[in-house]
Amino acid sequence: MTGFRSSLIRVFALWLFLPGATAAITPQHAAIASAHPLVNAAGYEVLEAGGNAFDAAVAVSAALAVVEPNASGLGGGGFWLLHRAEDGFEVMVDGRERAPLAASANMFLDSAGEPVPGLSRATALASGIPGEPAAFVHISREYGRLPLARSLAPAIRLARQGFPMYPRLQGGLKFKQQQLASNHAGSVFLINGQVPELGQVIRNPELADALELLARHGREGFYAGEQAKKLVDGIRELGGIWTLQDLADYQVVERPPIKSRYGDVTITGAPPPSAGGVAVANALNILGPYKLPELDSVTRTHVMVEALRRAFRDRGQYLGDPDFVAVPVPLLTHPFYADGQRAGIRLDKATPSADLPGLSPWQAKGTDTTHFSILDADGNRVSATMSLNFWFGNGIMIPDTGVVLNNEMDDFSVKPGVPDGFQLVGYDANAIAPGKRMLSSMTPTWAESDKGLVILGTPGGSRIISMVLQGVLAWAEGANASQIASLPRFHHQYLPDLISYEESAFSEAEIQALEAMGHTLKPVGRRYGNMEVITWDYASGEVQAASDSRGDGEGRVY
Ligand code: DON
Repeated sequence: MTGFRSSLIRVFALWLFLPGATAAITPQHAAIASAHPLVNAAGYEVLEAGGNAFDAAVAVSAALAVVEPNASGLGGGGFWLLHRAEDGFEVMVDGRERAPLAASANMFLDSAGEPVPGLSRATALASGIPGEPAAFVHISREYGRLPLARSLAPAIRLARQGFPMYPRLQGGLKFKQQQLASNHAGSVFLINGQVPELGQVIRNPELADALELLARHGREGFYAGEQAKKLVDGIRELGGIWTLQDLADYQVVERPPIKSRYGDVTITGAPPPSAGGVAVANALNILGPYKLPELDSVTRTHVMVEALRRAFRDRGQYLGDPDFVAVPVPLLTHPFYADGQRAGIRLDKATPSADLPGLSPWQAKGTDTTHFSILDADGNRVSATMSLNFWFGNGIMIPDTGVVLNNEMDDFSVKPGVPDGFQLVGYDANAIAPGKRMLSSMTPTWAESDKGLVILGTPGGSRIISMVLQGVLAWAEGANASQIASLPRFHHQYLPDLISYEESAFSEAEIQALEAMGHTLKPVGRRYGNMEVITWDYASGEVQAASDSRGDGEGRVY
């Protein structure tokens, strides 16, 4: 290379890394990390056809509905965090489920005012009004380059032609076999009532039809006409309370993401009705001044647990659907607020959760889930987490609709102080009300600095928040994509007052030291989460993608 050319390149490179100039660089490579290689292939097909990351996000979400029907789908909802490279515009598309209009605060309580076991989880009453189909239509129309039908085509093909049974799905089917066998879902996912063998081809022509209706008619293909009528009739027959009005009224909401700082890193997260963005921002604000890389491993775990304890306490107290309750987001994400929380943290001793202010009324004045991360060659990004709540939601399929129903109603606080399926305790900020969105822990996120970018997220209920926190911290300290996806995990959520952990997270000596500080530790007994990570190093230009070693997913750079 001539001296002139190389100095030109140096000048150009310097310009690229001037503050504020990062928008000018593009990754050149696209990357997708999701829960299944066939899902990545669906996203890539759409990129190859001229689509951008947003078209690919629709293709990937729809393919996940087919290939990972236990985790997300047309009968569920989610959050899609978007970054448009050309102008830096960022938004969260909130496609979270809403409570039906006939829902009421005490609908899961018996006449004595106690929660009826299972009512908010395993019945037709457990399903919120789905948001995912509306989100597909919205993302495609507002941000995509291709027609919706093109982005849905790979998923339609997968549903018709089928895909081979794989371990994670087989595990989910075994777990929910009885419940699925008791309704129409059994005839779609089981063969003569039995869980299919690994490799056996799974087809879902009803879901292919449902996706085709969406491709052809847009939102009317799900929220009106024959499909809406089948859904409402089917769910009412099973004791549900949906109406045609519920479906006709459903709208996605665009919300500005939560922004916070940790050292020289800017974190972009999901705003309410996700609790994740606020909780991660709050925990990072508490942790900033501790200089974590300089701490020994026990003190580091201790202060992270104390930060999580405080962030989760506030989750239970203040967070809910911002269209129904006044959520004090600016306060909770402000560094001064964290300074006050940090003041109560001792370095030698756990704070019993009972010593924090208990939950009290906060009135408005006014397992299963999936994540994917996408970066396209122009730098557009999507970080999205979608859910049915537990494995296969409430386990119910309405015949001839292709739709597995969610059981997200359990994410509401069915009674103040009564734990939900993730043992999370809430109060009236997250009480049930007609048309209200239930609070979520789903935390699609990215973080960036002058050095680069990480896009990440995971399923895992309340543990999503601690997993994303650990992931962001690891990236800030130099971990690469696969290291982030496979970090050993631990968690604290205020109540129950204990550190739950994967066996590999702590040594025996660390466990003893944490116990000596007053912490209670309990191994989870399995590995949890299914994280999908993309990183982009601005200096080298390298893009990496990694999928959690705990799952069957794939991170791929194209
Ligand atoms: O929105 C929420 O917080 C829950 N419905 C998420 C459930 C979940 O992540 C289950 N995954 N293992």
